[in-house]
Amino acid sequence: MPQNTVFFPLRLLEANSLFYNPATELLRLFNGVDQPETPKLRTIVNRKKGVYPTPRLKALAKINPFRVMTVMRRAAELEAEGKKVVHMEVGEPDFNTATPIVDAAKRALNAGYTHYTDAAGINELRCAIAGHYLERYGVSVDKERILVTPGASGGLSLLANLLVGQNDGVLITDPAYPCVRNFIQIMNGRPQLVPVDRTQNFQPTVQLLEDSADASTCGLWLASPSNPTGSVLSREALTGICRWCSEKDLHVLVDEIYHGLHYVADLPSVLEVDDSAFVVNSFSKYFGMTGWRLGWIVVPDYAVEKARVLAQNFYISPSSIAQHAALAGFSEETSKILERRRQCFRERRDFLCTSLREIGFSLAEEVQGAFYIYADISRFSENSERFCSDMLESHGVAITPGTDFGEFRAENFVRFAFTTGMDDLALGVERLRRALQG
Ligand SMILES: Cc1ncc(COP(=O)(O)O)c(C=O)c1O
Repeated sequence: MPQNTVFFPLRLLEANSLFYNPATELLRLFNGVDQPETPKLRTIVNRKKGVYPTPRLKALAKINPFRVMTVMRRAAELEAEGKKVVHMEVGEPDFNTATPIVDAAKRALNAGYTHYTDAAGINELRCAIAGHYLERYGVSVDKERILVTPGASGGLSLLANLLVGQNDGVLITDPAYPCVRNFIQIMNGRPQLVPVDRTQNFQPTVQLLEDSADASTCGLWLASPSNPTGSVLSREALTGICRWCSEKDLHVLVDEIYHGLHYVADLPSVLEVDDSAFVVNSFSKYFGMTGWRLGWIVVPDYAVEKARVLAQNFYISPSSIAQHAALAGFSEETSKILERRRQCFRERRDFLCTSLREIGFSLAEEVQGAFYIYADISRFSENSERFCSDMLESHGVAITPGTDFGEFRAENFVRFAFTTGMDDLALGVERLRRALQG
């Protein structure tokens, strides 16, 4: 039977076939016997068969699924066959949410905080986030400028809708977190890829931005620390970039989701150097709350009202229970737990960087933040997807190909996530050593 064979309700097919019968006609068309003659019929047939998508679906065809998901799926299949896989592909902390946060959620449930909240989030949490900016960065942010969102993902998609119009160019680094590129494309904007490598610490310089911008450019989206490289923008670099954007009248958005998970002494928030910047942050990574789906954005005064309206329309409000739980994320007790976890990540980073270098991977001088190492595999392969597939299938080590994050030398890179315990990391390193050093 042809793949796209379509069945019609019998009632239609029972109609008199001696005369023109629309049902039989459609059936013949669907099953590829004839070509539809009228445009209307053609559209019906094509949509039904899924052969020619609508223009919108066609536009969305360039939005790719994450390759890391394919790696994760295949790893799960291998595990189901009884094989041991070392997971270095997963971009979330392996630690469960800290107990004080979980306890706060239980109290919130018992107290009946199970309803919608204000679209921008509960007052207490917005005050706590404002307090966090004052305490950690010494900047005063009016809580009205803070909107709690369903994860950083909710924040990024809201800001894409707020900031990016048809054919607007948005400067982003290559490599970068893949959603960034996709969110811009979903808005029919144009991601303007700024190729960065180790020579610029995987962050853009003003010169590189200048080279990539054109008349359509409306803004610049950055991440510091970045995914997949963990690289951090210095205060000086951030200041220079913000000044350049202001001169060009471009908006600046900085994704600060990995703040707190950094191993350098100075990690400025963009708000310290540019009060008009847009900020994305989250409770997912540092606070260890990936599954709770909670983040926040900070927007300049002029954008507050429209951001609120978009939030109301997109999701009404962020999760009430998650918000009450997240309040405990700022307590002293939780901070101590999170600090211990950060030290764990630092130890893992040190171990993995040293081991990978010994094996022959080429790495940045210092992994400054997040829990990722973006490693150059040129010595072993020119095809990162094949390399990752081989490491998984033949050696039980799951890592993510550079092609998930961009185009620039993506075939030469893979991302290691140190989101698994030391024993597994050691096992992974041993397997890689055997695979690559013989
Ligand atoms: C740079 C970056 N931004 C945003 C996100 C989305 O995070 P969230 O879980 O808060 O939606 C991620 C997730 O990995 C990320 O790496």
